[in-house]
Amino acid sequence: MSAPPIRPAPVPPELLDQPLDFLLAEHQRQKEMCGLLEAAASGQETADAATAILLDFLERELPLHRADEEDDLYGLMRRRCQPEDGIEALLDRLAMPAGLEEALAATLSGRRADAPIAGLAMQVTLFVTPLRLHFAYANAILIPLGRRRLRRSDLAGLARRMRERRGMPPEPAG
Ligand SMILES: [Fe+2]
Repeated sequence: MSAPPIRPAPVPPELLDQPLDFLLAEHQRQKEMCGLLEAAASGQETADAATAILLDFLERELPLHRADEEDDLYGLMRRRCQPEDGIEALLDRLAMPAGLEEALAATLSGRRADAPIAGLAMQVTLFVTPLRLHFAYANAILIPLGRRRLRRSDLAGLARRMRERRGMPPEPAG
């Protein structure tokens, strides 16, 4: 059996001061989580520790990331983009189906330590496929467009909202 996949490292909270870089770093972490999920689905990764990490990712971390993008970033992009940017078509491509992570978390919660469970592999495939498309479009198009179109005050406001969402003070200490 090959070595288990690495445990994805958390994104340093200091990076919230550069919110677009933070989202990019979260996408990298999410890519690694997709690998861990696939390992869990195949039975390669069976430790309870992996399940705990994945449940925290699905139940706590991913909803925060979704809210950062869907409740804050996308609205800023709609406001600042130019017609030639095609922002609505891009946001359509970035959309992630709702409910998949909740269903996957419910399945993982029922998983026992020593075996893959029926249906997990299909659920993981349904979950990771649109997420990987989201990374591709966001990293290659949305984030670079955001760097061009968003103003300094937009980024500061986005950082503040993302910090508040994580229970951190609105301004960085020091
Ligand atoms: Fe994202």
